[in-house]
Amino acid sequence: MSTLADIADIGTDPRRGGYSRHVFDDAERQLREWFVEQAQRRGLGVRTDANTNIWAWWGEPGDDAVVTGSHLDSVPGGGAFDGPLGVTSALQAIDILRARGFHPQRPFAVVVFAEEEGGRFGVPCLGSKLLTGQIDADRARALRDVDGNTFAEAMVAFGADPRRSGRDDAALRRIGQFVELHVEQGKGLVHQERPIAVADSILGHGRWRFRFRGQGNHAGATLIDDRRDPMLPAAQLVLAARRTAEASAGGRATVGSIVPNPGGTNVIASAVDVYLDARAPRRAREMVDELSARAAECAAEEGCEVDIAEESFGDTVHFDTVLRDRIRGVLDGAPALASGAGHDAGILAAERPSAMLFVRNPTGISHAPEEHVEDDDCQKGSLALADVLAELAG
Ligand code: GLV
Ligand code: MN
Ligand code: MN
Ligand code: MN
Repeated sequence: MSTLADIADIGTDPRRGGYSRHVFDDAERQLREWFVEQAQRRGLGVRTDANTNIWAWWGEPGDDAVVTGSHLDSVPGGGAFDGPLGVTSALQAIDILRARGFHPQRPFAVVVFAEEEGGRFGVPCLGSKLLTGQIDADRARALRDVDGNTFAEAMVAFGADPRRSGRDDAALRRIGQFVELHVEQGKGLVHQERPIAVADSILGHGRWRFRFRGQGNHAGATLIDDRRDPMLPAAQLVLAARRTAEASAGGRATVGSIVPNPGGTNVIASAVDVYLDARAPRRAREMVDELSARAAECAAEEGCEVDIAEESFGDTVHFDTVLRDRIRGVLDGAPALASGAGHDAGILAAERPSAMLFVRNPTGISHAPEEHVEDDDCQKGSLALADVLAELAG
């Protein structure tokens, strides 16, 4: 069986703690190689699609397949389970099904989606959004990482042809149903004292970059009254985000990254980029509209300017209820949970019946090193996934 222990040393981040694994970096390439080796060891046929997602086929590839999988990349300083658990569980589910003498009656594949976290190019679920055409391919190719490399350049360096990227109807036709197993990113299962849940919905969510511009200057020589310091409206936006989320039913707003330019302790910044993540069951965009108005006011008070770019947005996803209830039937009435986190399954749900299994996380923490799943629950997750796949592919 392949387990998370196999990849525990790949992409560790001693500075941040946890793992930093971003599309096409050394760690992510090693993870791809590990996955290909694991798939080949099981006799699966591996292909990488035009959008650099990896597909491993049990038997002949074909349309209307049962597909399971997740992603191997992480956020900066992320946990060990978000993504990889869905991949190791998929491989283990195949081992379990084989040990039971099961032969799929339908095409069957494990998929690893590229750049799910958007950790390098800023747009989450990039591999599945390209596959479905939910991001324009030209826009995707022009996305830049912090070093200024475009996604197209990174694809070339990886050995892929960026001209081929974009909506892939042939690959989409192959997906009959998609089931993604994932660590729960909250404590719903802890409170319910259950190991496994089925997903109900995903909050509408998006990412925005607020770029405040002022005048770079000397921290000691510039009188307070003479400053146009873009860090001030940036700080006010952080506070406003919290207040706006508090006032919105089920809303969440987070500034997880602020990048001052040039970024020196004794330098008044000339520009500050504030990255906002906003989510809500219904009104995520309205929250951001309010914050945009507030950001413009705060910028003007300091003699600064602001421009706002939407990096990504997806409406609330409701998973296919027929598939969900069929899976709950297999899993002894596993509870249904809403997800505050985004997933490739949520992208595919617009096109294909998709479902998710969540596995209990005793800390309830995710996108941080404290994310955890007990071994026993990992096992229960793989067994549950095997049962679900047998039901769908039998
Ligand atoms: C993905 O994990 C997200 O919801 O940010
Ligand atoms: Mn994540
Ligand atoms: Mn994930
Ligand atoms: Mn000086």
